[in-house]
Amino acid sequence: MKFVAGLTCHLCGARYPAEALWVCSDCLGPLEVTYDYDAIRGAVSRELIESRPRSLWRYRELLPVEEPRTGFHSGYTPLVRATRLARELGVSEIYIKDDSVNHPTFSYKDRVVSVAATRAVELGFQVFGCASTGNLAGSVAAHAARLGLPCYVFIPNDLEPAKVLGAAIYKPHVVAVEGNYDDVNRLCTQIADRYGWGFANINLRAYYAEGAKTTAFEVAEQLGWRFPDHLVSPVAGGTLLPRIYKGFREFKDVGLVSGRMPKIHAAQPAGSAPVIKALEAGLEYPEPVKPDTIAKSLAIGNPADGFQVVRVVKETGGQGAMVSDDEILDAVQLLAQTEGIFTEPAGGTTLAATRALIERGAIRPNESVVVCITGNGYKTAEVMFNRVARPTQIGRGFADFEKAIGSQLGVPAAI
Ligand SMILES: Cc1ncc(COP(=O)(O)O)c(C=O)c1O
Ligand SMILES: [Zn+2]
Repeated sequence: MKFVAGLTCHLCGARYPAEALWVCSDCLGPLEVTYDYDAIRGAVSRELIESRPRSLWRYRELLPVEEPRTGFHSGYTPLVRATRLARELGVSEIYIKDDSVNHPTFSYKDRVVSVAATRAVELGFQVFGCASTGNLAGSVAAHAARLGLPCYVFIPNDLEPAKVLGAAIYKPHVVAVEGNYDDVNRLCTQIADRYGWGFANINLRAYYAEGAKTTAFEVAEQLGWRFPDHLVSPVAGGTLLPRIYKGFREFKDVGLVSGRMPKIHAAQPAGSAPVIKALEAGLEYPEPVKPDTIAKSLAIGNPADGFQVVRVVKETGGQGAMVSDDEILDAVQLLAQTEGIFTEPAGGTTLAATRALIERGAIRPNESVVVCITGNGYKTAEVMFNRVARPTQIGRGFADFEKAIGSQLGVPAAI
């Protein structure tokens, strides 16, 4: 970890070595990895990064590991210029950062887990685990399988079946807790402490969070080493959004990109929107809520990094938008039918929020916006069953096709 300076308390600034620590012993604030940016400035260049394999490890000077051990194909997901969607929403320049095809488990979580799992091995943890709303469980289990690490994933007991299977297939211990994510998280904090296991998003959180910065690194590189005017990020525990900000800022600090920082906007489902409510009420710290939404991967009522999200949104001149379950599902459909990208309700939340931000003038028609699509629709297919047309049933003969479909197309019959 040539360029890591250590861990710094986000609240009081106390400094610690880069070990298995996650809260400040002085004030209980969250710890964050800090780097020697002067040294990094002299060590990286656009050309060097571009010459490396297309994974998140191409930014390794800005990641807190000695040597990558997993995630060799994670990250570097497509940034799709969405022209049909742009026309639909009345803006000129929209990009989809498509983590629905992230490797190996089809969500943004493969970024954070690549870093947390590598660091777990480096710090000598014998067991790897997490508290999850679904996607994280799958990713932790997959990366643990690849590393041959014993694995425990903890989930609320009402998750979508494909999310549960998508974790169980890798043969971790899947523990379904009677309660919501916030209950699961509380329990896991106790287990991590008592058993000394490495939990990606609890005692390895300082390292885990760093993986999320790679979303920003990739967006800037894929735009041709520039920033967009706006970026819209979903918010659950609040890891991703503030680290996207940190990633953009670091690229500026080490001289890879110049120009104005993007406005970063937060998207939440109305049934689990503690951060958006805090932004609207002018609170610094979100008040916990009891989640009730179709976007189960965003159903976190008491986000660990909620206050950081509030701060970043305000500081960049962004806004928050919360959207109903119906708007979420409409947006899932819209993204699929305009761009051929099938996302889960978390992605629908982000797109529906983007639409709301455009409608209220927070994003103007001539400005560029990146929408973070963080999960894959095949894991939550059941939420769309009643929204898509059933197949047209026909017999096997040509006449059956003609009767059901051909005759309605106004095509003259061939002679
Ligand atoms: C698909 C998806 N998008 C976004 C998020 C939000 O993540 P964060 O906890 O970083 O706010 C999650 C978290 O579980 C997720 O699964
Ligand atoms: Zn502190």
